Amino acid sequence: MRISKRIREIEKLIPQNSIVADIGCDHAYLCTLAVLHGKAVKCYACDIAQGPLENAKRTIREMNLEDRIFPVLSDGLEHVPADANVCVISGMGFDTLKKILEKHDLDQFEMLILQINGDVYDLRKWIIAHDMKITDERIIHEGHYYTILVCQHGHDHYTEEDYIFGKYLQGDTFQDYWKFRKQKIQEILQMLHDSKQTDELTHLLKMIQRKTGA
Ligand SMILES: C[S@@+](CC[C@H](N)C(=O)[O-])C[C@H]1O[C@@H](n2cnc3c(N)ncnc32)[C@H](O)[C@@H]1O
Repeated sequence: MRISKRIREIEKLIPQNSIVADIGCDHAYLCTLAVLHGKAVKCYACDIAQGPLENAKRTIREMNLEDRIFPVLSDGLEHVPADANVCVISGMGFDTLKKILEKHDLDQFEMLILQINGDVYDLRKWIIAHDMKITDERIIHEGHYYTILVCQHGHDHYTEEDYIFGKYLQGDTFQDYWKFRKQKIQEILQMLHDSKQTDELTHLLKMIQRKTGA
């Protein structure tokens, strides 16, 4: 069973003794790790589609974890049992994740661990606008760059710079990510003729330089 660095990093962020609902679980690798490492006392491996749920059932059976991981056919949070207190949603686009979160009450969850494919600027904005705060973040590189956000109920004040860079990220992977983004922006700028977009991207480049020193 090869479990990605991204899933392993998400699992590290789960608090001890959690009851986890993994929405869009696919093979249930996250639930498997969380239970085997003693992070989760119970997991609900949830997926909207029968195919991925069959993958999950196979993993659960092979690992003899039927007493701790329970497959649930669920569109988002629709059939998540009431005792789940940590919600993980990873590996989806922002629009899908947003639809899932907007459809249901999130009160039962003490923590949400969220990872989308793509830039997290919009996700940070959505969280701060929905009575939640971000309490931790991780960035990893595994072919692509992935940012993982840990969210809890509460409030926080974010500046535009905070939305772009987050409040918790630093270190080599963070620097590499912004170096990569900077290169992409410079390439786009060379091709652009629209002055409004040029101004916006030039402003972003200056923010990156100020933040990362690069
Ligand atoms: C790309 S996989 C991600 C699997 C895993 N979470 C990860 O991070 O690698 C996306 C999974 O989400 C499921 N999915 C998509 N929309 C969903 C929804 N509304 N509710 C539950 N699962 C959903 C898909 O069926 C698929 O198994």
